[in-house]
Amino acid sequence: MEGMNSDHPLLVATKVRKIYRTGSVAVTALDDLDLVVRHGELVAVMGPSGSGKTTLLNCLSGLDDIDGGRVEIDGHDLFAMPDAARTEHRARTMGFVFQSFNLIPVFSAVENVELPLLLVGTRPREARRRALATLERVGLAHRVEHRPSELSGGEQQRVTIARALVGRPAIVWADEPTGNLDSAMATQVMDLLCDLNRDEGQTIVLVTHDSAIGARVPRLIRMRDGRLVDDVRQAVADRAVERDVTLG
Ligand SMILES: Nc1ncnc2c1ncn2[C@@H]1O[C@H](COP(=O)(O)OP(=O)(O)OP(=O)(O)O)[C@@H](O)[C@H]1O
Ligand SMILES: [Mg+2]
Repeated sequence: MEGMNSDHPLLVATKVRKIYRTGSVAVTALDDLDLVVRHGELVAVMGPSGSGKTTLLNCLSGLDDIDGGRVEIDGHDLFAMPDAARTEHRARTMGFVFQSFNLIPVFSAVENVELPLLLVGTRPREARRRALATLERVGLAHRVEHRPSELSGGEQQRVTIARALVGRPAIVWADEPTGNLDSAMATQVMDLLCDLNRDEGQTIVLVTHDSAIGARVPRLIRMRDGRLVDDVRQAVADRAVERDVTLG
């Protein structure tokens, strides 16, 4: 991303706390969590249901508020910004991919992908050009006029990946991006994310329940009860696992 300084970490989360209060019940979903993500990393987040993975993505991306701690993106304190500035910052620096594809059903693939550019004021011709190039990058050059209902699940998820990438974000957050796909399509989508990371240095943080995915990414973190309990860097090429930090 333009203006991003790659000398310091892209993301520094320090003692991040998130408490959900529902009636008389308080759930500590993030318990003083620390995490550093460097430019160009691909990080998978695993952990049991309810351990705080989605909360982690929502809080570190600034989609949701936090109750304590601090999140810096490229040196900028996310929660020190007024809401409007945070929203704008998110639109400029982050892309999102969710399990449910969240595509607009009446829009074609290319219209879905160009939308975020149009929303930040990119001129229509330029937005169209970049949307087409990004769809080509995800292998969908032959489906640009199709609507979501005319695409397979894997193709729909590739459209959402194109939509997440089209603004050239510093970081892509993906919450169970393969959760709704059969295993062949899941493999295709993961291959694409791994390629984007390896070939283009795209920083990606993704949540997954799939241990096969966990085994093939350069860095795997595990959560339990709102804490990081494991942080492993793995040699991806030969699958040799090297344990360099074990927390908790
Ligand atoms: N909006 C909310 N209001 C109240 N409690 C919530 C809310 N969202 C999440 N929680 C609670 O916070 C904890 C963490 O939830 P989170 O959704 O982050 O888990 P997760 O690791 O993503 O689980 P899963 O694998 O099932 O998606 C859970 O105990 C959950 O019940
Ligand atoms: Mg979740």
